[in-house]
Amino acid sequence: MSSSDPFSGEAITARLASLARHTDAPGRMTRLSLSPAHRAAADEVLALFRAAGLAAEIDPLGTVVGRLACGANDAKLLLIGSHIDTVPDGGIYDGMLGVMTGLAVIEEFRRTGRRLPFDIELLAFSDEEGVRFPSPFSSSRAVAGTFDAKLLEERDRDGVSRAEALKAFGCDPALWPTVARDGERLLGYLELHIEQGPVLESAGHPLGVVSAIVGLSLGRMNVTGAAGHAGTTPMHLRRDALACAAEIILAIEAMARGNDAIVATVGQLSVSPGAGNVIPGSVSFSYDIRSPRDAARVKALALAMGRAREIAEERGCSIDIEMTTAMPAAACDPALMAALADAAGEHAPELVSGAGHDAMIFRNVCPQAMLFVRSKGGLSHHPDEFTSADDIGVAAKALHDAVVALAEGNVS
Ligand code: HGY
Ligand code: MN
Ligand code: MN
Repeated sequence: MSSSDPFSGEAITARLASLARHTDAPGRMTRLSLSPAHRAAADEVLALFRAAGLAAEIDPLGTVVGRLACGANDAKLLLIGSHIDTVPDGGIYDGMLGVMTGLAVIEEFRRTGRRLPFDIELLAFSDEEGVRFPSPFSSSRAVAGTFDAKLLEERDRDGVSRAEALKAFGCDPALWPTVARDGERLLGYLELHIEQGPVLESAGHPLGVVSAIVGLSLGRMNVTGAAGHAGTTPMHLRRDALACAAEIILAIEAMARGNDAIVATVGQLSVSPGAGNVIPGSVSFSYDIRSPRDAARVKALALAMGRAREIAEERGCSIDIEMTTAMPAAACDPALMAALADAAGEHAPELVSGAGHDAMIFRNVCPQAMLFVRSKGGLSHHPDEFTSADDIGVAAKALHDAVVALAEGNVS
């Protein structure tokens, strides 16, 4: 980080590019939770934290933790974090930007020798996306004290449990109860993140303040029909699991298209036995239903489930519906929002996050708030995800100024 510009967007971008080398799929940004690439990235983050003078380690859930102690024994604790796992073929900013800008802020405090009245922990969470294992947010849930030991038994598509993956990563998952922070001690949780949508770009503003994070209903639907010969089985005698799933997926899409408060996505689908000349006997697919309004989301999920069961019955198929995550919408803390808005400058839009974030895990645990940075074309979860170095520099400075406001007691 050049001392001339403590919040150099170019230097932060260079660190993101360096982290991006750690991928499970050469040529693509794919770093699933607890993979070998994730371990390499975590080691690089650990080294950066230590080079910045932080006491740093990797916790039992794989989160890289860097601690800046203020020296007072009974000091409160401010958490700054985001995640370093990615979606398959994603971008280099989603998650990593929050960790690297948090690091730039701490490096500036170290450079200027600013004394803070509270401790800071910088957190690089290991499992936000929830791609490898069914449930997302396991690592931030451990820090927030809302972890469920059942999460350790979740298995990936190769049958590897989260506990086995954590051990292979070099962690001891049995120590998960030691990760929870004392909520009484927590001053708050701040997360800087790319917007991943078009609002800031269309507003012509590099930064925005998140007012709330949408609620999520995530799970899988498993349809069972009857496999059979693609050539000899008459159409009226078929119980085609894939045709049934397709009708259900279109019904879910139609339900969401008809309701402005809802978005719904089916992102994963597997077909068995998966041969072109065999009528699909069973299909499993994911569902992801979100809304800023919990009642609307719960109602939409009930409608989707009801319609799925009707379609399955009409087609002579059976269906099993799993719910892996039901997470209410999380309103952000007004005082922290105001500190971020002051730091972001006038006219910084307030916006609801359509993406889920680790910040929502801290609802009911401590005040939490998020600062968004403009995404080019509103694109994310895509290799063309991009945020300019200029915007990154402005964002890192704003995050710094918000923490200074907290330190100077100007946040209430
Ligand atoms: O899916 C999400 O909203 C987040 O990117 N994990
Ligand atoms: Mn993210
Ligand atoms: Mn993401």
